[in-house]
Amino acid sequence: MIGENYIHFYDIDSTNNYLKNNWRNLPSETVVRASVQNSGYGRKGNHWSSELGGLWYSVLFKPKSRPLNPWHYVRVFSLAIYDTLAKYSINAKIKWPNDLLVNDKKICGIVGESIITGKVPNAIIVGIGINVNNDIPYHLKNYAVNLKSLIDKEVSVEKIMNEINHKAYNSYYLRYLKEKSVSVITKKWLKVLNIKINDEVTLINLNEKKENVFIEKITPDYLEVIDIDGNIKKIYAGEISVRKS
Ligand code: BTN
Repeated sequence: MIGENYIHFYDIDSTNNYLKNNWRNLPSETVVRASVQNSGYGRKGNHWSSELGGLWYSVLFKPKSRPLNPWHYVRVFSLAIYDTLAKYSINAKIKWPNDLLVNDKKICGIVGESIITGKVPNAIIVGIGINVNNDIPYHLKNYAVNLKSLIDKEVSVEKIMNEINHKAYNSYYLRYLKEKSVSVITKKWLKVLNIKINDEVTLINLNEKKENVFIEKITPDYLEVIDIDGNIKKIYAGEISVRKS
Protein backbone atom coordinates (compact mmCIF):
# COMPACT_ATOMS: atom_id res chain seq x y z
CA MET A 1 0.00 0.00 0.00
CA ILE A 2 1.25 3.46 -0.84
CA GLY A 3 1.88 5.25 2.44
CA GLU A 4 1.87 2.21 4.73
CA ASN A 5 5.24 3.56 5.81
CA TYR A 6 4.58 7.27 6.38
CA ILE A 7 7.02 9.93 7.53
CA HIS A 8 5.98 13.50 8.27
CA PHE A 9 8.26 16.49 8.86
CA TYR A 10 7.09 19.92 9.88
CA ASP A 11 9.85 21.40 7.77
CA ILE A 12 12.58 19.98 5.60
CA ASP A 13 14.63 21.08 2.56
CA SER A 14 12.74 18.84 0.12
CA THR A 15 10.87 15.56 0.50
CA ASN A 16 12.40 14.38 -2.80
CA ASN A 17 15.87 15.07 -1.38
CA TYR A 18 14.99 13.16 1.77
CA LEU A 19 14.14 10.07 -0.27
CA LYS A 20 17.21 10.48 -2.47
CA ASN A 21 19.38 10.35 0.65
CA ASN A 22 17.51 7.60 2.47
CA TRP A 23 15.95 5.31 -0.14
CA ARG A 24 18.23 2.35 0.68
CA ASN A 25 16.82 2.03 4.20
CA LEU A 26 13.16 2.55 3.37
CA PRO A 27 10.57 0.15 1.97
CA SER A 28 8.97 0.64 -1.42
CA GLU A 29 5.85 2.83 -1.37
CA THR A 30 7.12 4.91 1.57
CA VAL A 31 5.49 8.36 1.65
CA VAL A 32 7.29 11.43 3.02
CA ARG A 33 5.31 14.61 3.55
CA ALA A 34 6.43 17.98 4.81
CA SER A 35 4.22 20.84 5.99
CA VAL A 36 6.82 23.29 4.70
CA GLN A 37 9.78 22.79 2.33
CA ASN A 38 12.69 25.22 2.35
CA SER A 39 14.20 24.09 -0.97
CA GLY A 40 11.38 22.42 -2.82
CA TYR A 41 12.11 21.93 -6.51
CA GLY A 42 10.30 20.89 -9.64
CA ARG A 43 11.14 19.83 -13.15
CA LYS A 44 14.28 21.32 -14.69
CA GLY A 45 15.39 22.09 -11.10
CA ASN A 46 12.98 25.04 -10.85
CA HIS A 47 12.31 26.40 -7.36
CA TRP A 48 8.97 25.16 -5.98
CA SER A 49 7.39 27.43 -3.42
CA SER A 50 6.14 25.22 -0.54
CA GLU A 51 4.38 27.30 2.09
CA LEU A 52 2.29 26.02 5.00
CA GLY A 53 -1.15 24.81 3.88
CA GLY A 54 -0.07 23.05 0.69
CA LEU A 55 0.32 19.34 0.09
CA TRP A 56 4.00 18.57 -0.50
CA TYR A 57 4.98 14.94 -0.58
CA SER A 58 7.08 12.28 -2.26
CA VAL A 59 6.60 8.58 -2.83
CA LEU A 60 9.38 6.02 -3.12
CA PHE A 61 9.14 2.99 -5.41
CA LYS A 62 11.69 0.21 -5.54
CA PRO A 63 10.40 -1.89 -8.43
CA LYS A 64 11.68 -5.45 -8.59
CA SER A 65 11.23 -5.69 -12.34
CA ARG A 66 10.68 -3.57 -15.40
CA PRO A 67 9.12 -1.22 -16.45
CA LEU A 68 11.22 1.35 -14.65
CA ASN A 69 10.27 4.56 -16.38
CA PRO A 70 9.67 7.33 -13.79
CA TRP A 71 7.20 9.06 -16.11
CA HIS A 72 4.90 6.05 -15.94
CA TYR A 73 4.79 6.37 -12.16
CA VAL A 74 4.09 10.07 -12.55
CA ARG A 75 1.15 9.20 -14.81
CA VAL A 76 -0.32 6.92 -12.14
CA PHE A 77 -0.43 9.94 -9.83
CA SER A 78 -1.61 12.47 -12.45
CA LEU A 79 -4.64 10.28 -13.05
CA ALA A 80 -5.28 9.67 -9.35
CA ILE A 81 -5.10 13.42 -8.68
CA TYR A 82 -7.41 14.08 -11.62
CA ASP A 83 -9.95 11.64 -10.09
CA THR A 84 -9.56 13.08 -6.60
CA LEU A 85 -10.19 16.62 -7.84
CA ALA A 86 -13.25 15.33 -9.74
CA LYS A 87 -14.61 14.08 -6.40
CA TYR A 88 -14.59 17.72 -5.30
CA SER A 89 -16.43 18.63 -8.55
CA ILE A 90 -13.31 20.10 -10.10
CA ASN A 91 -12.76 19.48 -13.76
CA ALA A 92 -8.99 19.52 -14.22
CA LYS A 93 -6.86 18.87 -17.30
CA ILE A 94 -3.52 17.11 -17.38
CA LYS A 95 -0.91 19.36 -18.94
CA TRP A 96 1.36 17.06 -20.91
CA PRO A 97 3.00 15.14 -19.48
CA ASN A 98 2.12 15.54 -15.83
CA ASP A 99 0.91 18.78 -14.24
CA LEU A 100 -2.73 19.46 -13.45
CA LEU A 101 -4.47 22.64 -14.51
CA VAL A 102 -7.84 24.08 -13.62
CA ASN A 103 -9.00 26.80 -16.03
CA ASP A 104 -5.43 26.90 -17.38
CA LYS A 105 -3.96 27.62 -13.92
CA LYS A 106 -1.64 25.18 -12.21
CA ILE A 107 -3.02 23.39 -9.17
CA CYS A 108 -0.51 20.55 -9.09
CA GLY A 109 3.03 19.83 -10.27
CA ILE A 110 4.60 16.39 -10.29
CA VAL A 111 8.22 15.44 -10.84
CA GLY A 112 9.59 11.94 -11.39
CA GLU A 113 13.21 11.04 -10.65
CA SER A 114 15.24 7.84 -10.90
CA ILE A 115 18.08 6.70 -8.67
CA ILE A 116 20.54 4.81 -10.82
CA THR A 117 23.55 3.09 -9.30
CA GLY A 118 23.97 0.40 -11.96
CA LYS A 119 22.53 -0.14 -15.41
CA VAL A 120 18.86 0.23 -14.50
CA PRO A 121 17.09 2.42 -11.95
CA ASN A 122 17.10 1.05 -8.39
CA ALA A 123 14.47 3.45 -7.19
CA ILE A 124 11.94 5.91 -8.48
CA ILE A 125 10.80 8.97 -6.60
CA VAL A 126 7.57 10.78 -7.44
CA GLY A 127 7.34 14.26 -5.94
CA ILE A 128 3.91 15.85 -5.77
CA GLY A 129 3.04 19.45 -4.98
CA ILE A 130 -0.60 20.53 -4.74
CA ASN A 131 -1.90 23.98 -3.88
CA VAL A 132 -4.55 23.17 -1.30
CA ASN A 133 -4.95 25.79 1.45
CA ASN A 134 -1.71 27.71 0.84
CA ASP A 135 -2.16 31.26 -0.43
CA ILE A 136 -1.01 31.84 -4.00
CA PRO A 137 1.51 34.74 -4.10
CA TYR A 138 0.10 37.81 -5.85
CA HIS A 139 2.57 37.64 -8.78
CA LEU A 140 1.48 34.05 -9.53
CA LYS A 141 -2.28 34.61 -9.38
CA ASN A 142 -2.60 34.37 -13.18
CA TYR A 143 -0.69 31.08 -13.32
CA ALA A 144 -1.65 29.12 -10.22
CA VAL A 145 -4.74 28.30 -8.22
CA ASN A 146 -5.47 26.51 -4.93
CA LEU A 147 -8.16 24.03 -4.03
CA LYS A 148 -9.47 26.22 -1.19
CA SER A 149 -10.52 29.00 -3.57
CA LEU A 150 -12.15 26.54 -5.98
CA ILE A 151 -14.37 24.88 -3.40
CA ASP A 152 -14.66 27.80 -1.00
CA LYS A 153 -13.38 25.92 2.04
CA GLU A 154 -10.23 24.47 3.55
CA VAL A 155 -9.66 20.74 3.32
CA SER A 156 -7.22 18.60 5.30
CA VAL A 157 -4.09 18.04 3.22
CA GLU A 158 -3.66 14.59 4.78
CA LYS A 159 -7.15 13.62 3.75
CA ILE A 160 -6.47 14.66 0.16
CA MET A 161 -3.15 12.82 0.18
CA ASN A 162 -4.76 9.61 1.46
CA GLU A 163 -7.48 9.84 -1.18
CA ILE A 164 -4.89 10.28 -3.93
CA ASN A 165 -2.69 7.44 -2.69
CA HIS A 166 -5.63 5.09 -2.35
CA LYS A 167 -6.82 5.89 -5.86
CA ALA A 168 -3.30 5.70 -7.32
CA TYR A 169 -2.73 2.27 -5.82
CA ASN A 170 -6.06 0.64 -6.51
CA SER A 171 -7.09 2.16 -9.82
CA TYR A 172 -3.78 2.60 -11.63
CA TYR A 173 -0.61 1.26 -9.98
CA LEU A 174 -1.78 -2.33 -9.53
CA ARG A 175 -3.05 -2.45 -13.12
CA TYR A 176 0.18 -0.97 -14.40
CA LEU A 177 2.25 -3.53 -12.49
CA LYS A 178 0.09 -6.43 -13.59
CA GLU A 179 0.25 -5.54 -17.29
CA LYS A 180 3.87 -4.31 -17.12
CA SER A 181 2.81 -1.64 -19.57
CA VAL A 182 1.67 1.93 -19.24
CA SER A 183 -0.75 1.46 -22.15
CA VAL A 184 -3.48 0.21 -19.79
CA ILE A 185 -3.73 3.59 -18.16
CA THR A 186 -2.92 5.69 -21.21
CA LYS A 187 -6.42 5.74 -22.69
CA LYS A 188 -7.82 7.73 -19.80
CA TRP A 189 -4.73 9.97 -19.75
CA LEU A 190 -5.19 10.82 -23.44
CA LYS A 191 -8.79 11.78 -22.76
CA VAL A 192 -7.94 14.30 -20.07
CA LEU A 193 -4.78 15.75 -21.63
CA ASN A 194 -4.80 19.47 -22.46
CA ILE A 195 -3.43 18.84 -25.97
CA LYS A 196 -4.57 16.84 -28.98
CA ILE A 197 -3.37 15.91 -32.45
CA ASN A 198 -2.86 18.91 -34.80
CA ASP A 199 -2.68 21.43 -31.93
CA GLU A 200 -0.03 24.10 -32.31
CA VAL A 201 2.18 24.21 -29.21
CA THR A 202 5.30 26.02 -28.07
CA LEU A 203 8.25 23.87 -27.00
CA ILE A 204 10.52 25.42 -24.38
CA ASN A 205 13.89 23.74 -23.88
CA LEU A 206 16.18 23.80 -20.84
CA ASN A 207 17.74 27.09 -22.06
CA GLU A 208 14.26 28.64 -22.40
CA LYS A 209 14.56 28.56 -26.22
CA LYS A 210 11.07 28.53 -27.76
CA GLU A 211 9.82 26.87 -30.93
CA ASN A 212 6.32 26.53 -32.34
CA VAL A 213 5.38 23.10 -33.68
CA PHE A 214 2.29 21.01 -34.45
CA ILE A 215 1.45 17.77 -32.70
CA GLU A 216 1.47 14.77 -35.03
CA LYS A 217 1.13 11.93 -32.58
CA ILE A 218 0.74 11.37 -28.84
CA THR A 219 2.15 8.03 -27.66
CA PRO A 220 2.37 6.65 -24.11
CA ASP A 221 6.03 7.69 -23.97
CA TYR A 222 6.59 10.67 -26.24
CA LEU A 223 5.04 13.34 -28.43
CA GLU A 224 5.78 13.42 -32.13
CA VAL A 225 5.79 16.97 -33.48
CA ILE A 226 6.40 18.61 -36.83
CA ASP A 227 8.19 21.94 -37.10
CA ILE A 228 7.57 24.69 -39.69
CA ASP A 229 10.22 23.18 -42.01
CA GLY A 230 8.43 19.85 -41.96
CA ASN A 231 10.96 18.08 -39.70
CA ILE A 232 9.47 15.47 -37.41
CA LYS A 233 10.84 15.20 -33.86
CA LYS A 234 10.13 13.09 -30.82
CA ILE A 235 9.69 14.94 -27.55
CA TYR A 236 10.22 13.07 -24.29
CA ALA A 237 8.94 14.24 -20.92
CA GLY A 238 11.57 15.87 -18.79
CA GLU A 239 13.70 17.42 -21.50
CA ILE A 240 11.28 20.04 -22.70
CA SER A 241 8.12 21.91 -21.63
CA VAL A 242 5.12 22.13 -23.90
CA ARG A 243 2.85 25.16 -23.76
CA LYS A 244 -0.32 25.67 -25.77
CA SER A 245 0.34 28.43 -28.33
C1 BTN B 1 6.87 20.85 -11.22
O1 BTN B 1 5.80 21.39 -11.50
O2 BTN B 1 7.90 21.19 -11.81
C2 BTN B 1 6.90 19.76 -10.19
C3 BTN B 1 6.83 20.29 -8.78
C4 BTN B 1 6.98 19.20 -7.74
C5 BTN B 1 7.03 19.74 -6.33
C6 BTN B 1 7.00 18.65 -5.29
S1 BTN B 1 6.60 19.25 -3.69
C7 BTN B 1 7.04 17.73 -2.97
C8 BTN B 1 8.28 17.23 -3.69
N1 BTN B 1 9.49 17.78 -3.12
C9 BTN B 1 10.14 18.60 -3.95
O3 BTN B 1 11.19 19.21 -3.70
N2 BTN B 1 9.48 18.66 -5.11
C10 BTN B 1 8.27 17.84 -5.11
